[in-house]
Amino acid sequence: MGRLMGLIINPISLSPYLLISGSNDMNFTGQVAIITGAASGMGAATARELAAAGGQVVIVDRNESLARQVAGDIDAGEPIIGDVSDSAFCNRAVEATLARHGRLDVLVNAAGVIVRASGEQTTDEQWQRIIGVNLNGVFFMCRAAIPAMKRQGKGAIVNFGSIWGDVGAAGVAAYCATKGGVHLLTKAMALDHATDGIRINAVCPGEVNTPMLQSERHEPVTPEMMQKIADTVPMGRLAEPVEIARVVLFLASDAASYMTGSLVAVDAGYTAR
Ligand SMILES: NC(=O)c1ccc[n+]([C@@H]2O[C@H](COP(=O)([O-])OP(=O)(O)OC[C@H]3O[C@@H](n4cnc5c(N)ncnc54)[C@H](O)[C@@H]3O)[C@@H](O)[C@H]2O)c1
Repeated sequence: MGRLMGLIINPISLSPYLLISGSNDMNFTGQVAIITGAASGMGAATARELAAAGGQVVIVDRNESLARQVAGDIDAGEPIIGDVSDSAFCNRAVEATLARHGRLDVLVNAAGVIVRASGEQTTDEQWQRIIGVNLNGVFFMCRAAIPAMKRQGKGAIVNFGSIWGDVGAAGVAAYCATKGGVHLLTKAMALDHATDGIRINAVCPGEVNTPMLQSERHEPVTPEMMQKIADTVPMGRLAEPVEIARVVLFLASDAASYMTGSLVAVDAGYTAR
């Protein structure tokens, strides 16, 4: 919590409120955070940043070896291994966290997959798989986490959207559909819980240098190909995962106390055009 600065009268509502200094608002000491997809990329970067800010991280991922590696690095305890497209697994992950730590303050939904195909070329299996992980998984985790946050009267959820949930792109139709779904799910659930003390926002990254950026491509990944992608970005470069993680931490923290239902682009100007 931040330092108390004084009692102010709000001229709009005429009710007094406490103005809090922002100096310590991004300290997560005493807070418990579940991070899905924390074994790699931006989820892993978020786990490392949150742990460095004092938070107790619970890693949820389907990749056991990578999850154990990150968990070991940040002293996160036993990672919870499974598939977020399974609602029963999501319920179990939250139950295990509560049994272990007795509370849940933050949920970051970073687990995700990509399918690189036009709508016409997308198979039933690809469609169901990506909807299952990217959209159902986010919904199942949010739904599982909310009762505990409600009981506490406080909680913050940060979902991973994307520039491709805002603007379309050729060759990734199903992915765009899932991220557009995450954006509206974020807004709708933020409204559901606006008076419960639970804030729900989404971070919407642009082109980020993670394994996903290179995965599922139809041609070998070369430095020239990565440069071509960077050239599509107004700032002319890819993001590093930590540049997104820092924004996730802000949204999850008390520093963002007046934000809910926001879609925050971290895309070096990509969607500003
Ligand atoms: N890389 C980008 O350029 C980019 C841009 C915008 C949005 N995103 C989104 O950011 C999020 C993080 O992506 P990243 O680039 O760090 O990817 P990444 O591939 O590095 O990490 C994704 C993690 O999710 C885990 N995961 C995948 N399916 C899972 C499942 N069913 N259950 C549990 N865990 C699962 C993977 O094991 C992996 O550890 C994703 O939601 C992605 O769609 C990525």
